[in-house]
Amino acid sequence: MEKAQFLFDKIWDDYIAQNPEVKEIYHLFSDLGETVANDHIAFRTFNDPRVNIDVLSNAFLKVGYKYKGEYQFKEKHLYARHFELEEFKEAPRVFISELKLEEMSYELQVIAKDIINRIPDAVLQSPDFLLSGNSWGRPSYKIYEQLRKESEYAAWLYVFGFRANHFTVSINALKQLDSIQKVNLFLKDKGFVLNSVGGEIKGTPAELLEQSSTKASIKEMDFDEGLFEIPSSYYEFARRYPDQNGRLYGGFIAQSADKIFESTDFYKKA
Ligand code: NI
Repeated sequence: MEKAQFLFDKIWDDYIAQNPEVKEIYHLFSDLGETVANDHIAFRTFNDPRVNIDVLSNAFLKVGYKYKGEYQFKEKHLYARHFELEEFKEAPRVFISELKLEEMSYELQVIAKDIINRIPDAVLQSPDFLLSGNSWGRPSYKIYEQLRKESEYAAWLYVFGFRANHFTVSINALKQLDSIQKVNLFLKDKGFVLNSVGGEIKGTPAELLEQSSTKASIKEMDFDEGLFEIPSSYYEFARRYPDQNGRLYGGFIAQSADKIFESTDFYKKA
């Protein structure tokens, strides 16, 4: 567990450095006396063999994680796998998705291959590859917009690269904010905006998993064409329910996750 903890601390430090809003929420929860445990953390990538799920999951397999389940997101052309650390139930699940390039336009494939070609070998081989961010250089806003038309997922990846896309607070571990409704109300009361695509709450107790998330906060990014404000990362909240055998459900609901992906879709600050 120690090695896994070390890895998660590094990923968390990068994530909150990139997303001050997350840090703010984390502290609001802590100030209530809550223990903020992670249900899962998520990464995005392309299915190119140089950077695919197998490559990203390596760091987790090395510290004892095991493959647990797979998911298909047809409309978004995504495939995902989730991993768990069996000997330590409190460890967060790891959810890694990849964009199926062969299903995308020729233009998108060329852009993806080009940025992967530009990742230095030392970065590809580094044990910290999954935290290497964008190592292909300053993005072009024109390309970002072009990618967005076809895949918001690809556009996000093009700008932000390899790093945690989101962490997810386990509502099961909270004492006062012990329902997803209470968590959502608390956040809205503090002025945070939730992703309402498909309703603020994705999933139901009957499905054994309820999820909600903030809308990714807007960040000013440096593009070839100048500075532009775009959505960065978000914070997710999940509550799990026990199954018929009394065991807490450990998987993911593709239909809900599908909508959660849209938390990073482009929008302009009101
Ligand atoms: Ni998630």
